[in-house]
Amino acid sequence: MPESTLLELANINAGYGGPKVLHDINISLSAGEFISVIGPNGAGKSTLFRTISGIVRPASGSITYKGSNLLEVEASRRAHLGLAHVPEGRQVFPSMSVLENLELGAYVDKTGIEFRQTLEKIVSWFPVLGERQQQLAGTLSGGEQQMLAIGRGLAANPDILMLDEPSMGLAPTIADEIFERLIEIHKTTGLSIILVEQRVAEALHFANRAYVLEAGRIILSGNPAELQNDDRIRQAYLGM
Ligand SMILES: Nc1ncnc2c1ncn2[C@@H]1O[C@H](COP(=O)(O)OP(=O)(O)OP(=O)(O)O)[C@@H](O)[C@H]1O
Ligand SMILES: [Mg+2]
Repeated sequence: MPESTLLELANINAGYGGPKVLHDINISLSAGEFISVIGPNGAGKSTLFRTISGIVRPASGSITYKGSNLLEVEASRRAHLGLAHVPEGRQVFPSMSVLENLELGAYVDKTGIEFRQTLEKIVSWFPVLGERQQQLAGTLSGGEQQMLAIGRGLAANPDILMLDEPSMGLAPTIADEIFERLIEIHKTTGLSIILVEQRVAEALHFANRAYVLEAGRIILSGNPAELQNDDRIRQAYLGM
């Protein structure tokens, strides 16, 4: 494993007790890298994130994080190690305020950075969260809720941010705004990001590297520019 590898999945097989969902998955993420995972509905993208965050236990294979065996770490401890999972469907605590949601995210922060400082940074990326600190999260618009879900992940000052379809159900302009912020965050902080997206053009455009997951298998991976020119990708994902 090269020095800069932060996370490595090797030969991961996983599922929910029935038919296998993930087959022999090999994925690596370097420190500071932004990778995208694209694939159709049901391919296993969310299952992949659940396997990393520990909700799903793989039947075989290994996950190495910062040089140690992540599978030995209980799911409830993984967030404390710098893994932030922003799940599908903008999950926020609806009857808590924006600020309280962010404070909950910061609960697992082990960096020693003061919450006030972290909050300032989050609000600089998503000003609407600052303006609406006292508003109940459940009354935010869809786009604002997604920003809060991302903000809550960032509140932990994580080493890896895993984003499961942040654009889902959002108008293109709002989705673009979120993608632009992600790029800015990646560029200015060097945070490692794994983005799962069905907006394939954007996911390929922004990433340093990308994987294509179909029916639980990585069928292609590599440089996004090369993938954009691959006939299979152009036909199946880019409508060309
Ligand atoms: N809790 C569960 N129990 C049993 N099977 C599940 C569970 N969650 C997901 N699956 C199955 O695992 C497969 C992959 O689902 P998953 O949600 O990982 O796909 P996905 O790529 O995230 O899809 P989408 O793009 O629609 O979000 C599907 O066949 C699904 O039915
Ligand atoms: Mg999913």
